[in-house]
Amino acid sequence: MFKIAVLISGSGSNLQALIDAVSEKKINCSIEYVISDRDGAFGIERAKNNNIKTYVLDRTYYKESLSDEILKIVDGRVDLIVLAGFLSILKGEILKRFKNKIINIHPSLIPSFCGPKMYGIKVHEAAIEYGVKISGCTVHFIDEGTDTGPIILQRAVCVYDNDTPKSLQQRILNEEHKAIVDAVDMISKGLVKIENRKVSVGDIND
Ligand code: GRF
Repeated sequence: MFKIAVLISGSGSNLQALIDAVSEKKINCSIEYVISDRDGAFGIERAKNNNIKTYVLDRTYYKESLSDEILKIVDGRVDLIVLAGFLSILKGEILKRFKNKIINIHPSLIPSFCGPKMYGIKVHEAAIEYGVKISGCTVHFIDEGTDTGPIILQRAVCVYDNDTPKSLQQRILNEEHKAIVDAVDMISKGLVKIENRKVSVGDIND
């Protein structure tokens, strides 16, 4: 069984999409751990409700050692780490041990509206402020940069004249829930290959 750990900082609706996909057998994976970098993240409750092992590693306590503490939990125990609304930056050894085995979901079409300090509602405020007509979400591998790793898949949504950052955020979140499940599905089936920074994907229906 393909094993994953999901790292969160907040609501965990993408985590919920993965939990649902596992229980509906849309993906053949097991969620071994849910780890939050802050206390009170609702995603921890979602995990507990589904009997998934949880850890809260407070980022203000662990500071620079947060990544190493996470590595201690997951090393040798999971095949893939999924960052689903995880706001800390992973650093150091975990990036080497899990090279091309950590994915993130970002609520824009990278390379637009991404990078340091571009998270949450700020992403959608920036997209509307700029006046783009299309936005969306991106699932990508993690590297040493912020939102710079190889892109696995992207989903686009229209931006309407009467959109607010909130309404755009919700439309994109609906796509994220499908995209994160599809990405985990493809990776767990061994369909995803990386060459230089180009990701190619076999036929998901194979
Ligand atoms: C999502 O928009 C995701 O793209 C971003 O953080 C948000 C997390 O939402 N990285 P949730 O906690 O999964 O509901």
